[in-house]
Amino acid sequence: MQSGIFRKLLLHWYSLHKRELPWRDICDPYRIWISEIILQQTRIAQGLDYYERFLTRFPDVQSLAAAAEDEVLKLWEGLGYYSRARNLHAAAREIALAGAFPMSYEGVRALKGVGDYTAAAICSFAYHQQVATVDGNVYRVLSRIFGIEVPIDTTAGKRHFKELAQQLLDPERPADFNQALMDFGSLQCTPTSPLCDDCPFRPHCVAGRSNSWQLFPVKSKRTAQQHFYFTYVLITHFGRLLIHRRGAGNIWQGLYEPYLIASTDGPTRPEADLWVKGLLQLSGSRLHLLESNYKHILTHRIIHADFYRIDLSDAIEGKKLSLPENYFFATREQAFQYAFPQLIRLEKYLSD
Ligand code: ADE
Repeated sequence: MQSGIFRKLLLHWYSLHKRELPWRDICDPYRIWISEIILQQTRIAQGLDYYERFLTRFPDVQSLAAAAEDEVLKLWEGLGYYSRARNLHAAAREIALAGAFPMSYEGVRALKGVGDYTAAAICSFAYHQQVATVDGNVYRVLSRIFGIEVPIDTTAGKRHFKELAQQLLDPERPADFNQALMDFGSLQCTPTSPLCDDCPFRPHCVAGRSNSWQLFPVKSKRTAQQHFYFTYVLITHFGRLLIHRRGAGNIWQGLYEPYLIASTDGPTRPEADLWVKGLLQLSGSRLHLLESNYKHILTHRIIHADFYRIDLSDAIEGKKLSLPENYFFATREQAFQYAFPQLIRLEKYLSD
């Protein structure tokens, strides 16, 4: 199919089905950047709320640059993939130092947390540059219409789709073209129930003609899920909770959590942990099971979490308690100001 026909069909479809979204038809690179980072791993319905709240609190790059990381993470709480928030914050500081949002594709691409897709989205939406965005929607739509069998998770595959998308891009309307392809992938050519019967590409679509849309896009391998077993022990003392801030080098860096015993081998009993064992002996307190095998599913990992509580009220008066490194007791109010990973539902466990 010629590029001209593809553009015409797609943009006509878009004129009928375009979604009205707050980050559309604007040219402010800061707002577009925030929306794209939120939407990297988040569905639009969930992202909308976060977008509004984030921009109300941080209306421009200077206000974001001036904020404390804890506050940025708190606003991000529940969205997951927290490195996105940390990178946004670090990049905002770089932009504020430089004095202006970068204007070139290379400058935007060099920002922390910005890859090829996001740089192309910002540059085409904000500056109308002729760069095609290639995301999961684009892989799916183009592989089906053109019957492309090169696996999308290979270097050759990535290059192939990038070149094809770039060739198809409408040079007069790069922003509309890119967003149209995303909407088409989200609304019409969906992963598991594409609307082939009333699709404008039907006569041209390789997968549609042979009813083989399930076979596209092709992947060379599936990533295995890794299992983690977390035992959280909520240690309380007159309403205060023992917590710590997670250190560098993991997905929840900078978030807070109660005392954690982690394993990849299987569930662990809290008494198997030396510090907890010592604490139980010293205080004479008892261990209460709050919840067991609560599953939290992330892209490549499944966390099986057990939650216990030890209440030390009255039990450690006059006894010398040594806390594990970096842990501290926070009041309820303090704890609720910090960002916690979503699997830790403090409201539920600290309701009394
Ligand atoms: N997904 C990521 N960015 C998007 C956008 N700008 N519009 C619709 N869906 C998106």
